[in-house]
Amino acid sequence: MKAAAAAVLLAGLLALAAHYAYLPLPGTVSEPWRLMLLDASFRAAQQTCNLAHYLGLGHHLRILNFIIGTFDKLNHQHGEGMKITDAQFDGVDIRVYEPPAKAEKILRRSVVYIHGGGWALSSTRGSFYNNLCLVMAESLDAVVVSIEYRLVPDFHFPAQFDDVLHATRHFMRPEVLAQYSVDPSRIAISGDSAGGNLAAAVCQEMSQDQNETSRFKLQALIYPVLQAFDFNTPSYQQNEFAPVLPRFVMVKFWIDYFNGNYEFAQSLVVNNHTSLDVSQASSFRDRVDWTSLITPRLRKTYKLVTPATGKVEILQAIPSLLDVRAAPLLAEKQVLRLQPKTYILTCEIDVLRDDGIMYAKRLEEAGVEIALDHFEDCFHGCMIFTIWPTRFSAGIRTRDHYIKWLSENL
Ligand SMILES: *[C@@H]1O[C@H](CO)[C@@H](O)[C@H](O)[C@H]1NC(C)=O
Ligand SMILES: *[C@@H]1O[C@H](CO)[C@@H](O)[C@H](O)[C@H]1NC(C)=O
Repeated sequence: MKAAAAAVLLAGLLALAAHYAYLPLPGTVSEPWRLMLLDASFRAAQQTCNLAHYLGLGHHLRILNFIIGTFDKLNHQHGEGMKITDAQFDGVDIRVYEPPAKAEKILRRSVVYIHGGGWALSSTRGSFYNNLCLVMAESLDAVVVSIEYRLVPDFHFPAQFDDVLHATRHFMRPEVLAQYSVDPSRIAISGDSAGGNLAAAVCQEMSQDQNETSRFKLQALIYPVLQAFDFNTPSYQQNEFAPVLPRFVMVKFWIDYFNGNYEFAQSLVVNNHTSLDVSQASSFRDRVDWTSLITPRLRKTYKLVTPATGKVEILQAIPSLLDVRAAPLLAEKQVLRLQPKTYILTCEIDVLRDDGIMYAKRLEEAGVEIALDHFEDCFHGCMIFTIWPTRFSAGIRTRDHYIKWLSENL
């Protein structure tokens, strides 16, 4: 009797767990079960943190980052002969990876790398990004500078942008490049997700600075976040509940970036912040118009969501939603024209797919050389998942493509 009850209970729990973990995924996705498990774990962690937040135990993002940081210590690699230094550039924490010196003194190429995590999570020092930067430094024989910008919720926009700008400017000074034996004509700026956002924004800012002595040769953006104007692009609509980064979670990352009010979240989801009656939005509308910027194959049958009336008070409370330093897709053409050769990696299973595709299109129209690398079977965030226990073939493949492009172009 007892055994039967236990069996029923166990079956019930298993069914509940399967129901919790089960997520309808497009048939094209690679390793669907592994992805569901990753997503379920991440969702469970987020829900625990939301509960703790609600109970007043601390900000949910701070707790989540603590959990990620603990998990992220699992598989730390060191790299044969690699010199890894933690230092500060203009008061900003950075980590530098220098490959072992060669016999003859040659100048190296270099990548400034900015990690992702919704401006709130992860670190240069955790395994995910430490390992990525190590592999980059090794395979490219390049000096990699990884920036430990300050995080939400302790700091908000534009602190993250300023940190990356200041550290990068410091690094690009001729005497600092000389100190690291870096060739000033072979430097790239790069980042993934929110790091891709910061990379693109800082690249725009520095490209307009007449006083800058060194210029980036390239920028490489991995599934970047580029706009908060339209949360109903086809990729936002199609991936509303997609793994790792559902739409509502991305909207909340934006609100937290600006220290805004979560009460606006539902209104942002329906584009009430950029409705036709919001006058500040009108001059930006054509810069995110995906009916002209992306192909019919990707648009599918989705329709523009442009409410006639919305809520003017949202942009009054959070004007930064349309600040180009936060949303580099909104930049004007004169600025886009100044951007270096660009690589953009996008994933089909990602609300941010169209952010990347629209930026690629606008840069191309402005005359910038573009490599758009789209992965039909990959999901947002996959590139850091390359080692046990979160090893995905999607991670290895995207990382290999990215590094190959850098290797051939930097
Ligand atoms: C460029 O340098 C000049 C002279 O040092 C300075 O006045 C100006 O503010 C600088 N411009 C920028 C954009 O930093
Ligand atoms: C969007 O704005 C319209 C017009 O003000 C309003 O009726 C609707 O309730 C709003 N929706 C949300 C989710 O804020």
